[in-house]
Order: sequence, then structure tokens, then C-alpha cells
Amino acid sequence: MNAITKNAQFIDDVEQGIAGYIDEMIELRHDLHRYPELAFKEVRTSGVIAGLLSGWGYEVATGIAGTGVVATLKRGEGTRRIAIRADMDALPINETTNLSYASRNPGVMHACGHDGHTAILLTAARYLAESGHFSGTLRLIFQPAEEIGAGARKMLSEGLFERFPVDAVYGLHNWPGVAVGQFGFVAGPAMASVDQAIIRIVGKGGHGAEPHNAVDPVVAAASFIVALQSVVSRNVDPREMVVVTVGSIHGGSASNVIPENVEIKLTVRTYSEAIRQQLKERIPALARAQAESFGARADVDYRLGFPAVVNHEEETAFARGVAVSTFGESRIDDEFKPRTASEDFAFFLAKQPGTYLFVGNGESAALHSPHYNFDDAIIAPAARYWVRLVEVFLRNDNWIEERHE
Ligand code: NI
Repeated sequence: MNAITKNAQFIDDVEQGIAGYIDEMIELRHDLHRYPELAFKEVRTSGVIAGLLSGWGYEVATGIAGTGVVATLKRGEGTRRIAIRADMDALPINETTNLSYASRNPGVMHACGHDGHTAILLTAARYLAESGHFSGTLRLIFQPAEEIGAGARKMLSEGLFERFPVDAVYGLHNWPGVAVGQFGFVAGPAMASVDQAIIRIVGKGGHGAEPHNAVDPVVAAASFIVALQSVVSRNVDPREMVVVTVGSIHGGSASNVIPENVEIKLTVRTYSEAIRQQLKERIPALARAQAESFGARADVDYRLGFPAVVNHEEETAFARGVAVSTFGESRIDDEFKPRTASEDFAFFLAKQPGTYLFVGNGESAALHSPHYNFDDAIIAPAARYWVRLVEVFLRNDNWIEERHE
């Protein structure tokens, strides 16, 4: 059998193999959906994952970053090592989907499809253990607490890649608005950094009828919020992407009282580390100057969240190539653009080469909506994709030789 025929055979094998148990894996996804767990509380979820992987022959390490799971499967003499990551946590949202398998944990919901990401990786894990053609080290990372941006960082601080060395790391997210099963790849910045500022404008409270005896923080806050977008339009290079959004403003309680202070919360997103530092300087400076011009004071608590997801060129090209060879060019969404949302997979990509890719979830409700649902039709193709990524990344030497027959 020549290499092209053999490769085609492997692709067919994967499709048929997964089709044999896909219903079970969809059931598993529904089970995870029914019992969603918040960040760092994924106790049941990680227990289910670890149990299945042990049963399939993986060497399973638990308790990394609390509920994190890392599973390893070594095969053959190959020396290369690949990691694939899925996130496990849910959101503090009341589900309103009326699905038969809707959340039974009130106020908690898998509204971002992490139940689906977990089911996809487990579906691939099962095939790879039972029938995968590879030679080398496969590592599966099940990460807690993505939604609060803390899980990846905690796994790394506990020595994730020192304990479990890899050559590259891959992850995926489902994406509403992109046709089911279409794949999106972005080389370079793919998702934005996220930082937060909490600004308290402190004036001097007083009677609403006597503003001359007070320092009004409401007027100072209003002026600051209007001036804030000048940071985006006048300070930052216009070729760069920046979003500054004031999501919260609170001050006062009565129409006839000038409050003592006003609190403003804002989120800041960009793709560039240099711009991120510039914003960290400029926004507090503007807040202080604006407050001062009204005789008030601004106390600024600027909190760095996490960096942009920056996909590595070579690994992205490789990942796209595997999608093309598995499904054909027509399944690649080349219109897929970088997103202004954020992902703590950024921390992994700051340590290891790799890429974060996207799979269409069709015309579903938006991520983080109480109406959102992950589309089960993605599980099989996305799992096939992970299998092929591993088989090609860890292709065994015999297979390479056969290519040259
Ligand atoms: Ni998510």
C-alpha cells in the first residue's frame, strides 16, 4: 500500500472507529452538561474524565491545579510529544434552554461549550488508545477554571510542562456563527489580552442644592468616561486593535445628594503586549488628570488579567494542513478573523509552541448566553481532527519510510 492510500485508509478508519461509539460520547456530553461545575470545583467532572482515561489505558495524573487532569499515552519508539488541552469549567448562569439534559445545578451552566470540548477530547482519546497509529508521547490536559482566567496559570505554576514535557500544545473552541464543523485557523494573535481597571473618583459629598460647597465626583466621572475613548483614538497606533469598555458605574443613591465617590469598572483588550503596557500607563494617568481638573481624586486599581492568544506560525500551518488533508479545503473557513474575546490558553502558548483553533457551532445563541447550546454534531468531526493531528504529529517511522516506497 503506498503512502497516499495508507493515509486515506487511516482517515477512513478514524471516521468509522468513532462512528461506532459516538452515541455514547454524545450521552457523556449530556451528562457533563447536566452537572456543570464552576471554576476549580470541577470535582465530579474531573472524576469522570480520570476514570474513563484510566480505563482506556492512559497513565493519569490528577490534582494538578486542584481538579486538573493530565493523561499520558506512550506508544512505540517515537521521541516527539504532543499535548492537547480541553477546558472543563462552567459559568455562573441560570440555564434557560429547556433541554432534556439542562443543568441540574441551579445557577450553574455550561454556556461556553466546555462540556463539548471535554467530550471531543475524550472521544479522540478513546480512539487513540484503542486504534491510534502513532509513535511517541500523547498528553491530554483537562484544565480547570478557564472562565476566571486562573486554571492555565495555576497548572503552569505547579510545573505542568516540567512534569509533563511536550513539543507543542493545541486547543480548540467552538464558535457560534460559523457553520457546524467548519474549521478556523489564525496565525499570530487570535484572541485578545484582557485587563481590568477599577477606578474610584473621590470628591466631597454634599447637598444637591449646594454644589459650590461640594466636589462632585459624578461630573468628574462623566468627563473621564467621555475622555477615555481618546486613549483609543489619539494615543494608540490606529493600526492596532484596542477595546476599552466601561461596564459598570456606580455612585450616589438620591437625586438631591452629591455623593462622596463614584466607582467605574472597565475592561481593556488588545493583541499587542506593547500596547497593553501603554494602556496600563495611559488610562490611570488620564483618570488622575481628569479627576484633578475637577478638584477630585482618582484611585486606580489596574489589574493585569492575561495576555493575547498568539498562535505560532509553524504549528498553525501544520494544524491547518491536517484539517485540509482530513476534510478537504472546503471545510476551512479562511474568512475566520482574530477575536476580541480572551482565553487563558494564552499562558500555554507563551510557554510552548502551538495553536488555538476554532470549530463552527452553527447558528446557536452566543457563548455565555443562557440560551446557548453546544452542537453535538461537532463532536465526531472535531474528535477525528484531534486523532489525525496526533497521528500526523507522532507519525511512526515505518509510516514515513512507506511514504518513500
Ligand atoms: Ni470558553
